[in-house]
Amino acid sequence: MNLNHLEKLVAPMTANFQTAQERLVGSEIPIITEINRHIQSKKGKQLRPLLTFLTARCCGMPDNLAENHPLFNAAAAIETLHTSTLIHDDVVDESDIRRGTATVNHRWGNKTAVLLGDYYLAVVMRAINDIDNKTLTHTINHTVIQMSEGELLQQQYCGNYDIDSSVYFQIIRKKTALFLASCCKTGALFATENPELLEAAYSFGENIGMAFQIRDDLLDFKPTALSGKPQGNDLKEHKCTLPLIFALQKTENRDIIIPILEKKEISDNDVSVISKIINNDNSIQKTSAILRDYLTKAELHLQYLPENKFREAMYDLANILQEI
Ligand code: IPE
Ligand code: IPE
Ligand code: MG
Ligand code: MG
Repeated sequence: MNLNHLEKLVAPMTANFQTAQERLVGSEIPIITEINRHIQSKKGKQLRPLLTFLTARCCGMPDNLAENHPLFNAAAAIETLHTSTLIHDDVVDESDIRRGTATVNHRWGNKTAVLLGDYYLAVVMRAINDIDNKTLTHTINHTVIQMSEGELLQQQYCGNYDIDSSVYFQIIRKKTALFLASCCKTGALFATENPELLEAAYSFGENIGMAFQIRDDLLDFKPTALSGKPQGNDLKEHKCTLPLIFALQKTENRDIIIPILEKKEISDNDVSVISKIINNDNSIQKTSAILRDYLTKAELHLQYLPENKFREAMYDLANILQEI
């Protein structure tokens, strides 16, 4: 996913955001410093702070902010919150590789990973409290609760191959979409008090978030090189995502797929067999069509935001998410 052109638009904010992030997670404890360095050496796409900065600028925020402006702390808290959920998620999913490198659990073990994820979450809460904006605090708290619920609901449905797509949508809304919604609302909050703009920013983020998670779930059936995460991770965790839900609607597919999924250990070869079925079936097309519907909904909300190059970039993001 190439976000270069969007990143350039908010480039004046990047250095202060980076500094705020390092300050946020810094600690005198050597193991924390060591892992911070590992995490900072392979950054992700930083999509969430990008959304925060784009919406802030779109809604009228200037770019010549003081280096200690709370917007930078909010964006740093958002990216750190994201990282903390990934650290915990990789323990739960028993993932060894993320961003093309070792996960914290793989390198330092589950215990350290759980504790570090907690530490990250705690510094996020401190940063949000310090900003002292009631709406922001409420928004972030709400997000964390929804994400935890989403991850737990997903866990409850692991191994259930008759999951209704409505439950799948509920899971991804909670674990991913509402966070992206909050990132957009956070940016808007620093620029405006206009409830219509805040609502439009939130709804844009929510629909982008739905599309983003559906895209991530599609990528699980594609080669590792496309995502930096091993192919078939979701399958190996017995997670039933949208492409699989569609494939399982056909009896001829079920007869092959279910016996594989019911195995305790799903091998790389099993992953290839299922991925081949899904890629040759129309499950990918059906999933992509739903992804596009969410992007269309996201774009509809953009019309309520001020027309400028930042809003244009948000349309561009919707286009980028269409490509696999
Ligand atoms: C991964 O998020 C978790 C999902 C919601 C799919 P990203 O794909 O944004 O992860 P990084 O930060 O770029 O690695
Ligand atoms: C997103 O789901 C996880 C969180 C909300 C933390 P995934 O489990 O699909 O994320 P990846 O694929 O491991 O990045
Ligand atoms: Mg995962
Ligand atoms: Mg995934």
